[in-house]
Amino acid sequence: IDIAAFQEDLLQWYEENKRELPWRENQDPYRVWVSEIMLQQTKVETVIPYFKRFLENFPTVSSLAEAEEEQVLKTWEGLGYYSRARNLHSAVKEIKEVYGGEVPSSKEDFSSLKGVGPYTAGAVMSIAFDKPEPAVDGNVMRVFSRILLIRDDIGKSKTRKKFEQILPSFLEGIRPSQFNQALMELGALVCTPKSPGCLLCPVQDYCLARAEGVQTELPVKAKK
Ligand code: ADE
Repeated sequence: IDIAAFQEDLLQWYEENKRELPWRENQDPYRVWVSEIMLQQTKVETVIPYFKRFLENFPTVSSLAEAEEEQVLKTWEGLGYYSRARNLHSAVKEIKEVYGGEVPSSKEDFSSLKGVGPYTAGAVMSIAFDKPEPAVDGNVMRVFSRILLIRDDIGKSKTRKKFEQILPSFLEGIRPSQFNQALMELGALVCTPKSPGCLLCPVQDYCLARAEGVQTELPVKAKK
């Protein structure tokens, strides 16, 4: 695969087709982080109003760190998976105490915080700080399993690690923030699970699954 050509085609498509989402207004790491936590188990359309209200109530790390847990949970009410809010609250308190209120720009430091797994760390490091870190979630595994015809079971942590090994070669020479968000956007708008819009896909020419006509068979997810 011609990685430079793939990057260019994907990035041009993203520039022309990206949705204007409230967390894309700037690269503030706190905003990016809040959005990624909310988006983990919740759809974009549902997250939008919650994200806005959360940022109005708690616009900065310090304001969230100083809030009472009860107020934080009240603002989260309706989103579900409340451990996300409790972990985020506990993490910003640690940032206030240990890092002077600045979201750490080191992946190791950031990953040590409550509720921050490999996906969240990669997403925040790349989107907020433009670090060449992969952000591998279900969307990215679906897109890349199709592009590269990878038939490994995406339910296995070994498979996620395999994608994390492949992605860095795609993150060279471009802005990681744009590239990772372009992949997420492609997965959300075109390379969808059931009937992918291959005819509209900016990277259809690179897609091995499409060449074989097996795009809807991928990704492989073994039954539990
Ligand atoms: N899903 C996960 N992260 C996202 C983001 N930053 N934008 C849109 N959808 C997402």
